[in-house]
Amino acid sequence: MNSDGVAIPAAARALRAAPRVVVATGAGMSQDSGIPTFRDAARGLWARYDPEELATEAAFRRHPARVFGWYAWRRRLVHAATPHAGYHALVALEGLVPELAIVTQNVDGLHTRVGSRRVLELHGSLERFSCLDARHPFPAERAPEPAADTECEPPRCEQCGSPVRPDVVWFGEMLPERVTAEAWALAASCRAMLVVGTSGLVQPAAQLPLIAREAGATVIEVNPDPTELSDAAHIVCRGRAGAVLPALVAALTQGATQ
Ligand code: OAD
Repeated sequence: MNSDGVAIPAAARALRAAPRVVVATGAGMSQDSGIPTFRDAARGLWARYDPEELATEAAFRRHPARVFGWYAWRRRLVHAATPHAGYHALVALEGLVPELAIVTQNVDGLHTRVGSRRVLELHGSLERFSCLDARHPFPAERAPEPAADTECEPPRCEQCGSPVRPDVVWFGEMLPERVTAEAWALAASCRAMLVVGTSGLVQPAAQLPLIAREAGATVIEVNPDPTELSDAAHIVCRGRAGAVLPALVAALTQGATQ
């Protein structure tokens, strides 16, 4: 199903019928708030680096100031960003269905900032830091935030002197165990899954819609472009998260009062 005129009412019906809804979000969810998607993030100073080459432990060991500076830049963008209408729509959706959880690949914390209550962060958070060697926590308020777009030397762990890294999941690293187990259980038991703004290229997160589909849930994709997951979706809403999600909640609210 490709036309929004049909897809949005169909998606609203599927959400209304679902006792448990999971919303799986990726970088496209924050695009309308001015945070570039992961695969579109190579801008300015960072244009000469492949983001996938900045997001590894090996890169951090080789070029700590470059990698720390890249994350500091992303964190600055996030602090300056305002969550768009689609974020607020997901908060409203929580009040319209019996149970809703958000499973996000994003590290920007915008779902929580805007007031969504059950948010599972699969890839960690830009707001947490720990040291590279022992993963001792490091207070975020002491992490340097350079004013300009620049490389930035990471601080040192106060306990062991190891360089401090962002608490995000890098390529080649395991996802946090408890959060992942919970996300997988939710995907296997939901009746509808809304998949917003993810390319479906990164594993294991890309499994979630397939698990939901396999378990009998209706899978709804919200994305302006076709993705690896489009074929697995029962309903496809082609459009931006900032436009489609409010329209979806409006359709759901109208349906509820009819
Ligand atoms: P990607 O950057 O791979 O994909 C972003 C998706 O968002 C694409 O499918 C776009 O079409 C879509 N998109 C763009 N603008 C949009 C909008 N306004 N509304 C809705 N969708 C839009 O991002 P992810 O799939 O999230 O992980 O990437 C997953 C992971 O790749 C990241 O969490 C990160 C990276 O590796 C790690 O660092 C481990």
